[in-house]
Amino acid sequence: MPDRGLLSDRAKALQPSLTLAIAAKAKQLRAGGADVCSLSAGEPDFDTPEFIRAAAIKALDGGQTRYGPAAGEPALREAIAAKFSQENHVPTTAAQVLVTNGGKQALYNLFQVLLGPGDEVLLPAPYWLSYPEIARMAGASVKELPSDADQGFRLKPGELEAAITPASRLLVLNSPSNPTGMVLSRAEMEAIANVLRRHPQVLVVCDEIYEFLLAPGHTHHSFAAVAPDLADRIFTVNGFAKGWAMTGWRIGWLAGAQEVIAAASALQSQTTSNVCTFAQFGALAAISGSRQCVYAMAAEFNVRRRLLTEGLMAMEGLKLMAPEGAFYAFPDVSHFGLDSITLCNRLLDEVGLAVVPGVAFGDDRCIRLSCAASPATIQDGLERLQRFLGSL
Ligand SMILES: Cc1ncc(COP(=O)(O)O)c(C=O)c1O
Repeated sequence: MPDRGLLSDRAKALQPSLTLAIAAKAKQLRAGGADVCSLSAGEPDFDTPEFIRAAAIKALDGGQTRYGPAAGEPALREAIAAKFSQENHVPTTAAQVLVTNGGKQALYNLFQVLLGPGDEVLLPAPYWLSYPEIARMAGASVKELPSDADQGFRLKPGELEAAITPASRLLVLNSPSNPTGMVLSRAEMEAIANVLRRHPQVLVVCDEIYEFLLAPGHTHHSFAAVAPDLADRIFTVNGFAKGWAMTGWRIGWLAGAQEVIAAASALQSQTTSNVCTFAQFGALAAISGSRQCVYAMAAEFNVRRRLLTEGLMAMEGLKLMAPEGAFYAFPDVSHFGLDSITLCNRLLDEVGLAVVPGVAFGDDRCIRLSCAASPATIQDGLERLQRFLGSL
């Protein structure tokens, strides 16, 4: 073996996913007969709606089994452009849309074509754990912009302005947010846009994958619709995973300036090629169809989010921003004096509750609980958490 070892520096720098580590431990304990309750899921526990599955089956039986255009089926790109134009009020053509292998590949491709060494990514924290890894794989550095549960995990325009340097290349916005459930209001987006108008070198990626999952009283805004004058430097990531319960289908999209979409498409053509052809026809049925199924699942998540929020609010020693969207709660448990990995390991070992340590999301004071579980499981998880915290 050569002295440098087998792995590239890029591979050595990659952080393994803590979410997967906890899930693996929970699975192992369960296999050994332990009674484990999991509030760690990052995916809807619903099945993909029947009409979507039927469309994919029909496409499969109808021979949609060959290579397609790398950037996606033309009809699906058209349908996504129409949705983004009409539902999100961002005028978009099919040439400005790339169909990707989930929102994750949309982010990966985008970061690869926008970023390089010397570029800095501005990342409001807490953040979804893949952003920093994807940024670093593109050679960029990451500057975190921290926030607190007490203040609703808001990105403050003054702090954003102060963090911007000539090297700042890309700001990451994620609303509704994983892991905090924070939803940016229109006024907050306008204030962020005002800062960005003074810094034309800063591009923006807006991850809207949880757009349909909103607590009552909250509205989703696309950043490119709030700041249309900045639209040529705003890139939007979205997908079918969360809203339509299609996590395993691996279909997302990237929308933005045509030049960047063309570059991301070229990258995709040399790496993964098109997303599974017949799966794209299922996605086409989903996006072209009625939103009734999406709203029904979102309504069920509202019931569960409320159950989780009220249960956590009733516990002493926790600081919680009531989640405004997505399907997570991210309480600050620093009062108990344990780092988040120790706390999560002890929760699993002592009361059989699997949740994700906040350090994975850039905040070691917190833990992430998911409400993508049945109300009975959520109730059970809350009781276990209460029992554990009471024992400390
Ligand atoms: C904020 C956020 N963005 C993107 C993704 C990626 O979703 P996909 O399954 O479409 O790749 C996730 C998945 O958990 C997420 O939480």
